[in-house]
Amino acid sequence: MKTVAAQPPEAIAGETTHSVLEVAGLHVWFDAPDGRSAHAVRGVDLTVAAGERVGVLGESGCGKTTMILAAMGLLPSFASVGGSVFLDGIDVLARGEQSARAVRWTHAAMVFQGAMSAMNPVYRVGKQIADPMVVHGQRSRAQARQRTAELLELVGLPTSTARRYPHELSGGMRQRAVIAMALACEPRVLFADEPTTALDVVVQAQIGDLLAELADTLGLALVMVTHDIGMIAETSARAVVMYAGVVVEDGPTFDVLTAPRHPYTRLLLEATPVVNRNRPLVSIPGTPPRLDEPISGCAFAARCPQAFDACAVRPRLTGDSHVAACHALEQERPA
Ligand SMILES: Nc1ncnc2c1ncn2[C@@H]1O[C@H](COP(=O)(O)OP(=O)(O)OP(=O)(O)O)[C@@H](O)[C@H]1O
Ligand SMILES: [Mg+2]
Repeated sequence: MKTVAAQPPEAIAGETTHSVLEVAGLHVWFDAPDGRSAHAVRGVDLTVAAGERVGVLGESGCGKTTMILAAMGLLPSFASVGGSVFLDGIDVLARGEQSARAVRWTHAAMVFQGAMSAMNPVYRVGKQIADPMVVHGQRSRAQARQRTAELLELVGLPTSTARRYPHELSGGMRQRAVIAMALACEPRVLFADEPTTALDVVVQAQIGDLLAELADTLGLALVMVTHDIGMIAETSARAVVMYAGVVVEDGPTFDVLTAPRHPYTRLLLEATPVVNRNRPLVSIPGTPPRLDEPISGCAFAARCPQAFDACAVRPRLTGDSHVAACHALEQERPA
């Protein structure tokens, strides 16, 4: 991972901040061997407070996972990064792998979609939860074993789960075990990237409830990426909508879902099936823009029913607690 842009003057390694996650002007490029470059994240600002529950939604390929990987310092070496990411006050991008290592698992942890791939099939569950605590020098082996039992209870699993192998657990149990692993070193931020996609709907709801509960009881900031809008409604107080590598809307979940301000959010919600509402399914016309070509102006303009001349210039996020990046909103505002 290469850091390409200068850090802002206030971005000093080790500096403490009030928010547990501060992403500012984040850009990520994936550089291909042929010289082309996919500009996957194109200037994201995101500040998350301790204990805040944020749901991130947006079409496939809009940069949600890339943003999280950048925040965790987990991008591949052929990626270039600009802007800044502060996790629990630590500048993640300042010193490359060194600063990323300093925050990973101890300040921020991540739960992926496939719980099975996050666990090593040849080790017992308890060892996999305990090992990070020992490796990071947080606890002795005996203390880590004790803490593992507490963590298993915290995520709703019997303590005997420690002696079992991952393949002996159901999908929901495995995801709970992975959450316990993620919490082992007491992070302040938990990134959950489609944590329930591989599970049945009942277990999805249980895992969603568990994550929300953990955020509340532990004061953990939860940043959850999902295509499941119901999950965001249930678990997140705040909803962030991304499109083509940028945040286009950000606000209280109820407001974003019931009174979306950006045309993209509006269409995304209309394209979401609702079981008990008798309306035809709609899709958003067109496709997201190519990320390996420059995007000028509003990236959504080509698909937007409200596009007009001003959209040739990239819109900024505007509003107070509920912000959206759309020139049409600026026009609506009284003079
Ligand atoms: N390792 C990689 N190498 C090259 N391009 C990548 C890589 N990872 C992601 N990309 C590109 O970056 C863009 C954003 O991808 P990303 O996985 O972040 O999207 P996403 O919003 O998480 O999508 P999804 O909802 O499908 O998970 C896509 O165009 C993708 O092809
Ligand atoms: Mg993704």
